[in-house]
Amino acid sequence: MEMIETRLPTADWTQVVRPSLLYRLARLFGSNPDILSFAGGAPDPHLCPAVDLANAAHQTMSENKGALQYGRDLAALKRQIQALMAQRGVDCTEEQISITAGGQHGMDILTRLFLNPGGQVMLEELVYTGIQQTVMPFQPEILTIPNHSETGLDLDVLQEHLSGGARPAFLYTIPTAHNPVGVSLSREHRRRLVDLARRYQLPVIEDDAYGFLDYDEPHNTPLKALDPDWVIYLGTFSKVLAPGLRLGWIVSPASLTANILVIKQLSMLSVAPLSQHIVSTYLAAHDFAAHIAEIQRQYCVRRNAMLEAMQRHLPPQAQWTRPSGGLFVWVKLPPGIDTEELVFQAVEEDRVAYIPGKAFVTDPDNRNYDSYLRLSFARYGPELIEEGIVRLGRTLRKAVSGQPAHGVGEMHP
Ligand SMILES: Cc1ncc(COP(=O)(O)O)c(C=O)c1O
Repeated sequence: MEMIETRLPTADWTQVVRPSLLYRLARLFGSNPDILSFAGGAPDPHLCPAVDLANAAHQTMSENKGALQYGRDLAALKRQIQALMAQRGVDCTEEQISITAGGQHGMDILTRLFLNPGGQVMLEELVYTGIQQTVMPFQPEILTIPNHSETGLDLDVLQEHLSGGARPAFLYTIPTAHNPVGVSLSREHRRRLVDLARRYQLPVIEDDAYGFLDYDEPHNTPLKALDPDWVIYLGTFSKVLAPGLRLGWIVSPASLTANILVIKQLSMLSVAPLSQHIVSTYLAAHDFAAHIAEIQRQYCVRRNAMLEAMQRHLPPQAQWTRPSGGLFVWVKLPPGIDTEELVFQAVEEDRVAYIPGKAFVTDPDNRNYDSYLRLSFARYGPELIEEGIVRLGRTLRKAVSGQPAHGVGEMHP
């Protein structure tokens, strides 16, 4: 039968969709075993407690037929999340907790809740690409706030916008172990941010995807712990248990819970009861704090291995951040180097991959980060990290030869 190419009249916003460079490259490079890929942001599957989750799944399905039915937010899981939030210093009630299918789903729910078509949102200049995609159907006006590699979100610019009358639907930010920059906001900056939110009545969506992966400091206090009213918190089990579970949560003022429920119902009836039961059974049977401590230890070793290898093998024209948590190191090369072009050379000639900085810019015309790149230290142990950085060093040396050195190593503002 002859295939006829039809162009179905999809909604206007789909005509301006930017496919995510991050997902395209992570998929392209992640599957070839010859390539050492520092590209994707997924956790190491070896650090996911597969056997314990399998046992929890078995127990769930043999003892709890409700897990295979339609369902709603599982009360037991909400209580367990409440206890986790208490560990993060957030005091909340069960009524304030909504279960989601991961942090990305939480972003989608909150975007639908707060943003009108054509409305205004505040995003950092460099931001996790998931939020860019979530707001896309609303074709919003985006106010961009610079983020600095050492201090994070620029609160002076934020304040200027707000005092100048801007009233965006929300600010989305990742105050702890930012993706991609790796920076965590200081306590003073957190305090000032929530003071501004309260003063100007700005809803702040706090994405705490990496809040449990904190290596150097006592836990960074979430914004939510500093202001329960204007901060809405996004949590996820993806980085600490397994992203395949597709399970996370929102902590919001209780007054929003009913609307959040309606948004969940219209898109998926409920978050998968099976995943909820498995995780709840797992949490009831295991010492989750001990599991988190162990993966923190492992990722900390990898972070250190990557930073030390970078010091040894990258050319002096490269500079990078030293993340205190999360999974990413942010690298700056001399202006003029296009890390998107370079990544194909890195893969073909040296068999190593990363994500180019421009994948994360909020404004597609922003060329300031064309010479940056993001590395993830999540996927490999120290030996392969060392080997990958040796390979990256080769690529970068070829790219920067003849360029002046900045001053070696870690980045300063
Ligand atoms: C900052 C941030 N938020 C959310 C997500 C998505 O997480 P989830 O698997 O919970 O949807 C990611 C994934 O990399 C992320 O880096």
